[in-house]
Amino acid sequence: MTILVTGGAGFIGSNFVLDWLAQSDETLVNLDALTYAGNLDNLASLNGDARHVFVKGDIGDAALVAQLLATYEPRALVNFAAESHVDRSILGPADFIHTNILGTFQLLEAVRAYWHTLEGHAKAAFRFLHVSTDEVYGSLSLSDPAFTERHRYEPNSPYSASKAASDHLVRAYHHTYGLPVLTTNCSNNYGPFHFPEKLIPLCIHNALAGKPLPIYGDGQQIRDWLYVTDHCSAIRRVLEAGQLGETYNVGGWNEKPNLEVVQVLCSILDELSPAASGRSYAEQINFVTDRPGHDRRYAIDATKLERELGWRPLETFETGIRKTVSWYLDNQAWVQNVTSGAYRDWVGTQYSAAKPLIEEA
Ligand code: NAD
Ligand code: DAU
Repeated sequence: MTILVTGGAGFIGSNFVLDWLAQSDETLVNLDALTYAGNLDNLASLNGDARHVFVKGDIGDAALVAQLLATYEPRALVNFAAESHVDRSILGPADFIHTNILGTFQLLEAVRAYWHTLEGHAKAAFRFLHVSTDEVYGSLSLSDPAFTERHRYEPNSPYSASKAASDHLVRAYHHTYGLPVLTTNCSNNYGPFHFPEKLIPLCIHNALAGKPLPIYGDGQQIRDWLYVTDHCSAIRRVLEAGQLGETYNVGGWNEKPNLEVVQVLCSILDELSPAASGRSYAEQINFVTDRPGHDRRYAIDATKLERELGWRPLETFETGIRKTVSWYLDNQAWVQNVTSGAYRDWVGTQYSAAKPLIEEA
């Protein structure tokens, strides 16, 4: 038996690949274009492991995907491949349209053709699982109930609009062609191998480097944090037992304002790796101009996944953030590798435009 994973060299995808192969002897074919966010270092522990077949390529390359499907005859495909960073989508949406919309479309077309060649049990058992985000639902006010699967789609950024479009395509391929699809909409992940353009790894990296910790606006925007291996276990469970054509919200029941998240990680760093100056890392917090169109609050109601499939997250925010900070302290070589070259160009462009809200005297 084989599964095909796309985007398996990125943050969540590589955690999923490692987690999957720690529990299964199935061959896993990993198709990843190795954009700036894809990193084979994440999978170094699998070097020499014949169960992991890595293929560098684009999900939008219909001929390549068709060839992989014909050669490996997977029983399932899990689609992580995407452009994932909201700020990058604001500076340049084109890559998001290319991969998240057109790429998903090409992937669906290739899978539809492959699925039609299957027969009997292989056809009935095949699954296409699309990994999506809570951002497709838009923004909540403080008093709104958390997003359920029935919340209407109201994406606000080019990133979330492109993910919403991909979700609609996946839904349509089930409704129109009967393709056996499943979709998961997850809240903010954090944990090992998280690229340091995102809030948590960026602030850990900047804190240790003695740089400002940029907080957009008033820092009171709320995200619902889920430790990445809990996301992986949810995807495994949905793949195993999800109802065809259904969507499942995945979340950690951990709503936190951004400022609090950064204060917590600063206090863990103060304890585990105190600054030579003797000052708290929290003194490096720096309020900067807000993200355009910044969504105020996300919150996931994951009741359906718990009630129907018995899934619950194992980590609380307190246990997960401590593990995460420790992982970054223990893996500084990984951080050094991913923060060279193109990363510096990104940070230069993004944060030169983000002016401090309070100018230093
Ligand atoms: P990431 O940016 O870390 O990784 C994306 C991976 O996809 C990279 O390895 C990249 O090389 C690959 N990729 C990009 N374009 C490709 C293409 N055209 N063909 C093949 N591979 C390509 O992203 P992530 O944070 O790991 O997110 C994975 C998925 O989960 C995405 O679909 C994202 O929308 C979704 N998601 C992420 C979060 C989160 O908090 N990070 C939460 C919910 C859902
Ligand atoms: O909700 C799920 C989504 O979570 C995923 O679909 C996205 O792929 C993933 O990137 C993430 O999106 P966010 O925009 O919520 O994540 P990010 O880490 O970029 O930002 C988290 C919050 O912190 C957000 O409110 C913006 C804020 N922020 C971010 C950065 C990078 C800052 O205040 N300063 C920063 O420098």
